Amino acid sequence: MVQPQPESQADPQADPRRTSESPFPEDFLWGAATASHQVEGGNDGNDWWAWEQQPGRIRDGSVSGDGVGWWSGKAEEDLALAASLGQNAHRFSLEWSRIEPEPGVFDPKAIDRYREMLAAAREHGLTTCVTLNHFTLPRWVAKRGSWLGSGMGDLFSRYVAHTVAELDDGVDLWVTLNEPNVLAYTAYAGHLWPPGARSLRACFKAMRQMLKAHARGYHRARELTSKPVGLVLNMPLFEGHRPDHPHDRIACGFQDWAFNGLLVEALRDGRLRFPLQLIPRTLPELAGACDFVGLNYYGRFEVQFDLRAETPLGRHVQQPTTRTEQTDWGQTCPRGLTEQLVRIGERLGKPIYVTENGLFDNSDTQRPEFLVRHVRAVGEALRRGVDVRGYFHWSLTDNFEWAEGWSTHFGLIEVDRKSGERRPRHSAEVYARICRSNGAWCGDSA
Ligand code: GAL
Repeated sequence: MVQPQPESQADPQADPRRTSESPFPEDFLWGAATASHQVEGGNDGNDWWAWEQQPGRIRDGSVSGDGVGWWSGKAEEDLALAASLGQNAHRFSLEWSRIEPEPGVFDPKAIDRYREMLAAAREHGLTTCVTLNHFTLPRWVAKRGSWLGSGMGDLFSRYVAHTVAELDDGVDLWVTLNEPNVLAYTAYAGHLWPPGARSLRACFKAMRQMLKAHARGYHRARELTSKPVGLVLNMPLFEGHRPDHPHDRIACGFQDWAFNGLLVEALRDGRLRFPLQLIPRTLPELAGACDFVGLNYYGRFEVQFDLRAETPLGRHVQQPTTRTEQTDWGQTCPRGLTEQLVRIGERLGKPIYVTENGLFDNSDTQRPEFLVRHVRAVGEALRRGVDVRGYFHWSLTDNFEWAEGWSTHFGLIEVDRKSGERRPRHSAEVYARICRSNGAWCGDSA
């Protein structure tokens, strides 16, 4: 088991300790990630825009509004800045509601704007990882019941076919969907994101529909592109509060299964197991339906058995943890990143990209060390033989953080939303050293 390094050894200010045996392959991708609705601005055709207008939905009372100006021209500036900060890749997403504003009606102007962004990425030497759908749905899809509506597989694969055919030239890696598990739990079991269904039945139905749509979208994309197509999963580490206590082990094992395990296994053999499906069944088209896996990793939850908890069978009691009064990203735990990479490698045998990893840290005091320790954790997975091909930090710039609004800052780059000015934080410089040295700057202990 990898032990986190004592704080002093993880100090990014310390002298660089290069190793002649860097575990990072030469073509490793070093980038940051963003998502359309969180940066573009003016996305008034999707379900989130409507949700934000309802009082009380966004914790700080803000709306996505103009975003950080990506749609109106700032994307190019930020991509240039990313490249100047040593990054060689960027992950971003496309807005379904812009590309297909009405059912079956595609907007060539939206495609043109995305072509400009992809061209800018190319011009700056950034490999592109493009997510077809990062949470937001066109309003016309929301009217049909969002992910609970009928025919979602057909609708999604029609959108995928059009988009991949139009934009494939500028894309290096395609992702179908971002984090079906987070979306299902937060928006369908919970009430914080649209449609706020508050129903476990809805949660698992939405998750099944997303998996089916992923499989349909994956096979449709495969007919049109030679680029790898993957799915992004969010997989926190779950551990028992009292590791030897049977009740904590059961609670923790169940949460890990219901959040992480059932999706990994469904992707492996196509089998939808309990509680995803009451009576298990197999979707043959889902088995092995990805060329790579994207892993989003934020932290660790420590589970204490408690039948009255909001989370099934147990409460989350880890300390310290990264949270606001409504959202908990868990305790920073780089070891968990190594463990989830090893797990995906063993269970699925596919190449893996860390497609998100980050923390909200408005003062940027913890982010530099967070970066160093997590990059080491990726290095440790590589040493253990896992085929990890890239790391994308969440996020390039501060952005609209869903139900948290604008008050939780995840950016390597600070944005003054009034003036539009960009100010790279200290962590952006630390990350630049990591990128430029292909990870060697972090030293070689995980
Ligand atoms: C992920 C999500 C991102 C971002 C991040 C930080 O779950 O994909 O869009 O919001 O969390 O909370």
